Amino acid sequence: MPRSSLARSIDGKAAALALRAEVAAEVTRFTAATGRVPGLAVVLVGEDPASAVYVHSKGKATIDAGMQGFEHRLPADTSEAALLALVDLLNADPVVDGILVQLPLPSHIDADKVTTRIDPDKDVDGFHPVNAGRLAIGLSGFVPCTPLGCLMLLRAELGDLSGKSAVVIGRSNIVGKPMALLLLGDSATVTIAHSRTRDLPAVVRQADIVVAAVGRPEMVKGDWLKPGATVIDVGINRIDKQEGKSRLVGDVDFASASAVAGAITPVPGGVGPMTIACLIRNTLVSAARREHYQMEKRL
Ligand code: GUN
Repeated sequence: MPRSSLARSIDGKAAALALRAEVAAEVTRFTAATGRVPGLAVVLVGEDPASAVYVHSKGKATIDAGMQGFEHRLPADTSEAALLALVDLLNADPVVDGILVQLPLPSHIDADKVTTRIDPDKDVDGFHPVNAGRLAIGLSGFVPCTPLGCLMLLRAELGDLSGKSAVVIGRSNIVGKPMALLLLGDSATVTIAHSRTRDLPAVVRQADIVVAAVGRPEMVKGDWLKPGATVIDVGINRIDKQEGKSRLVGDVDFASASAVAGAITPVPGGVGPMTIACLIRNTLVSAARREHYQMEKRL
């Protein structure tokens, strides 16, 4: 049922700036106490333009937070062995607290092999099987940045998530599965929906919280939603318009969803900025753990 008022737009950009400022303040205290600056190494193989933009943004956020950034740009024909050798060097380097190898990798490199080679205690992406396992059984480790950012937005919007019904659409290892585990950790009642789910609109309509992470432009429509639901849109889809122009849209049809939801993240300006803020948060957390430094604030 469309409502007369539109959903609140969840300002991920502002939330990300606030988190980045908190991380920067904590980095200052960490450095004063330990004499060390947290360091993040980012590895980019090849020239994929979208990946180059992401890596640039990650490097800038690292410097802005008062941390050290180590950027490694390797040619597209870099061998798997050479990349693994670089990961070994970064694992052993004491000034490196976090390691991120930008995905996707060229097809001649086995991404799982590379991800698994990173020291789990420097794995600020949270992609290593050890960190996936820690998340699954409730041990502290590193949680992938995008679902962590979504959880932070949901807590800020709704407060306690306990007992709420949540539907995560998408079952990827990077977003859907960790998102579901994080929501479960906050005592939500969680359903994971995917391409084989029967009557997806009916499943989504049960949910107080909807997280869409399927990579299908504007798939979730307003009439799929329970009135007042909180909607987190992880999708970033570039769709072509006329005259060679394109625009970014999410996995949710923002116009129709805004008429039914209580609150919704826009694309762009919703989840995206939180991913990078969570990366620098994870890097600070890694440095603090490695130095046995107690952070003043729980970020
Ligand atoms: N490619 C797109 N998003 C990500 C991310 O969060 N981490 C890495 N390593 N690669 C990505």
